[in-house]
Amino acid sequence: MTQAPFRARPHDGAAWVTGASAGLGRGAALELARRGFHVFATARRVEALDALARQSEGLAGRIVAAPGDVTDREGVAALYRDLEARGPVALALLNAGGAWRDPPEEFGGAGFQRTFAVNVQGVANCARPALTAMRARGRGQIAVVGSLIGYGGVPNAYAYGPSKAAVISLAVGLKFLAERDGVRVQVVNPGYVRTELTAGNRYPMPFLMDCDEACRRICDGLARGGFEIRFPRRFALLVRLVQSLPYPLFFAAFRALGLR
Ligand SMILES: NC(=O)c1ccc[n+]([C@@H]2O[C@H](COP(=O)([O-])OP(=O)(O)OC[C@H]3O[C@@H](n4cnc5c(N)ncnc54)[C@H](OP(=O)(O)O)[C@@H]3O)[C@@H](O)[C@H]2O)c1
Repeated sequence: MTQAPFRARPHDGAAWVTGASAGLGRGAALELARRGFHVFATARRVEALDALARQSEGLAGRIVAAPGDVTDREGVAALYRDLEARGPVALALLNAGGAWRDPPEEFGGAGFQRTFAVNVQGVANCARPALTAMRARGRGQIAVVGSLIGYGGVPNAYAYGPSKAAVISLAVGLKFLAERDGVRVQVVNPGYVRTELTAGNRYPMPFLMDCDEACRRICDGLARGGFEIRFPRRFALLVRLVQSLPYPLFFAAFRALGLR
């Protein structure tokens, strides 16, 4: 590593948030704008982005809608070129994601493929142009959104869980690649947060957190630096502990909790 990794401040350039039409991305875009960032907000739902942009009026920084689909690799590259033409992007929060399920007889089917296309390939598609521009400048900050679920396998998440394990691993690799050129890389690993994504879950969600609080934690972590931004802290420690158990104990623990 040749130089200290960078932490973006509003005067360094804009923030780019993907998955900004709802949930954590929307909340983080608003929180970054409150903290003075000019924010480019990307997602597919244009009306939701326009509403978000209107909501930012009067904040210290403004939000500008930048619609796009993270699974469209060349489309994302073109979108990013357009953003950079308006000024440097100093911070990229690659948050777009979701969970699409298949019935057991379709294991590894369309839901699995879409989950990986958005959560993993989508992050890589967005990281590519940001990484290229930031490395050329010798500074920048890229944060990808994983999940505590990515620490290891759990019931009810056979596509989402592995996709988030891949995101965490991707972030580690990206860090090695980028930080020698002055680009900070972080991974955001939330526990359960109240959003559209979790609204339909019919299983227990321990330590379920309010979305605004989660977004403040994300933005605090972006400002603080450090590779991993994880919360809630006690749940993160618990998940780490459970995932470090030998498999016989690990499976017994889930059976004892009635989770399978
Ligand atoms: N909520 C939780 O408990 C929790 C916990 C850990 C991690 N996370 C992660 O946090 C991130 C945000 O989750 P959330 O709970 O805020 O979910 P959410 O409310 O469902 O929002 C998901 C966002 O991703 C966008 N998106 C989905 N597919 C996209 C695509 N192909 N291209 C561009 N944008 C796309 C959606 O926008 P459009 O539909 O408009 O495209 C939406 O803005 C995800 O990566 C999720 O895995 C969430």
